[in-house]
Amino acid sequence: MAASRYRIDAPAIAAAALRRATPPNSPPGLALVLPTSPVGLRRAVQTLTDYASSELHSTPGVERCYDGNGYHAQAPNPSAEAWLWAIEAWDEKPRAIGVCVMLEHAPSTWALTWAWMHPFERRRGHLTKAWPYLQSRYGAFTVDQPSAAMQAFLAGR
Ligand SMILES: CC(C)(COP(=O)(O)OP(=O)(O)OC[C@H]1O[C@@H](n2cnc3c(N)ncnc32)[C@H](O)[C@@H]1OP(=O)(O)O)[C@@H](O)C(=O)NCCC(=O)NCCS
Repeated sequence: MAASRYRIDAPAIAAAALRRATPPNSPPGLALVLPTSPVGLRRAVQTLTDYASSELHSTPGVERCYDGNGYHAQAPNPSAEAWLWAIEAWDEKPRAIGVCVMLEHAPSTWALTWAWMHPFERRRGHLTKAWPYLQSRYGAFTVDQPSAAMQAFLAGR
């Protein structure tokens, strides 16, 4: 098995692209990635989603967002909206450290299909800080097949 199977990176992304993708009222560093977004952002979503798939053994809905070539929504699912968490590195490009994907299962009925944080960035409040913004944007969304960690998170909401 390839050693890279066990490597977990935090992909570097262009600061300008991150800035442009961060909605004005979202928490700093929380960027919206769409089929039309710059390829660097879409690649970062794919990389983190691959890690999520490896760890969780499935990411529900993932096949509806990717075409197998490594890019978010090359075969676009117009109802998929991916979010990237990024942190500013001290002297280099920002690093993508988390991802979640929202899917519109029915008109105006959204679900968080999966979320994943880099292990070094877990339980540092990233999802907590984003939660009110996601609720304001997507309304009373559900969470598809929550993992044990996600269930623990939800229990505290
Ligand atoms: C679940 C996950 C997305 C939460 O994101 P996060 O940014 O780490 O969450 P937060 O730091 O905002 O957590 C807030 C609270 O949720 C609860 N919580 C989160 N993860 C938990 C865990 N693994 N075990 C128990 N409680 C947990 C805690 O109460 C936590 O507060 P505390 O750290 O002060 O005790 C992230 O931990 C993760 O990627 N986990 C592994 C992959 C996974 O299970 N993804 C979800 C798939 S549906």
